Amino acid sequence: MDLLNPSLFLSLILACFWTLPIFAADTAAGEQKAAICSSCHGPQGKSSNPQWPNLAAQQSLYIINQLKAFKSGDRQNTLMQPLAANLSEEDINNLAAYFSSQQAAKAGGDPTLAKSGQAKAAMCMGCHGSSSEGNGLFPRLAGQHPEYLEQQLKNYKQGSRNGGPMQAIAASLSEEDMKALAAYFGSL
Ligand code: HEC
Ligand code: HEC
Repeated sequence: MDLLNPSLFLSLILACFWTLPIFAADTAAGEQKAAICSSCHGPQGKSSNPQWPNLAAQQSLYIINQLKAFKSGDRQNTLMQPLAANLSEEDINNLAAYFSSQQAAKAGGDPTLAKSGQAKAAMCMGCHGSSSEGNGLFPRLAGQHPEYLEQQLKNYKQGSRNGGPMQAIAASLSEEDMKALAAYFGSL
C-alpha cells in the first residue's frame, strides 16, 4: 500500500473527521439510555442477581467490544442479543462511558474458597491487572459476582463463548479451580 497516494491520504483524513463524533462519548446520554439496562444490571450497573454481571467500573473498551459481540452474534445470550441489536454505535459508546465511570461494586465470595483461589490467581493478573481492575479489552474481575464468573469460565471451557486467550486458559482449569478463582475475584 502506498501511503503517499493523495486520494488515499484524503480519504484517511475524511475518515478521521467522520469517526470523531462517534468516539466523543456522552456519559449523560449513556445514563439516560441505561434505564433499560437497570432492570437486570441494577442501578448504576450494580446487579443484585448473581447470574447477571455488574457493569459498574467495567472497562469501557471491554463493554464496547462485548456489546458489539452480542450484536454480531459472536457472543450468544438470549437476553442480551435482542437488546444489543437495538443499540447504535453511538448508544454503545455512551453506555460504555456511563457504566465504566460508576463506582465498583463488591459482590463478595466465600472466604475459604477465596483463600484457595488467591493461590491460583497470580497467572490471571498479567492480563486482568494487578488489582484485577482490568485494562482495555481485558475485563475487570474484581468485585464481580462469583456465580457469573464461574459460569463464564465454564462457557469458555465448553466453547460456548469465544474468548481468545481465555479458551486455552479455562481448558486448563478444573471445576474446583473455577469455583475458587471466582470466589477470590468476587471478594476483591
Ligand atoms: C433482561 C435482562 C438484561 C437486560 C435488560 C440487559 N442485560 Fe446485559 N446481560 C444480561 C445477562 C444475563 C448477561 C450475561 C450474559 C452471558 O452469560 O453471557 C449480560 C451481559 C452483559 C454484558 C457483558 C458483561 C461482561 O462482564 O462480560 C454487557 C456489557 C451488558 N450486558 C450490557 C447491557 C446493557 C448496556 C444493557 C442495556 C442496554 C443491558 N445489558 C441490558 C442481562 C440483561
Ligand atoms: C493472556 C491474557 C489473559 C490471561 C492470562 C487471563 N485472561 Fe481472562 N480474559 C482475557 C480476555 C482478553 C478476556 C475477554 C475475552 C472475551 O472477549 O470474551 C478475558 C475474560 C475473562 C473472563 C470473563 C469476564 C466477564 O466479565 O465476562 C473471566 C471470568 C476471566 N477472563 C477469568 C480469568 C482467570 C480466572 C484467569 C486466570 C486463571 C484469566 N482470566 C487469565 C485475557 C486473559
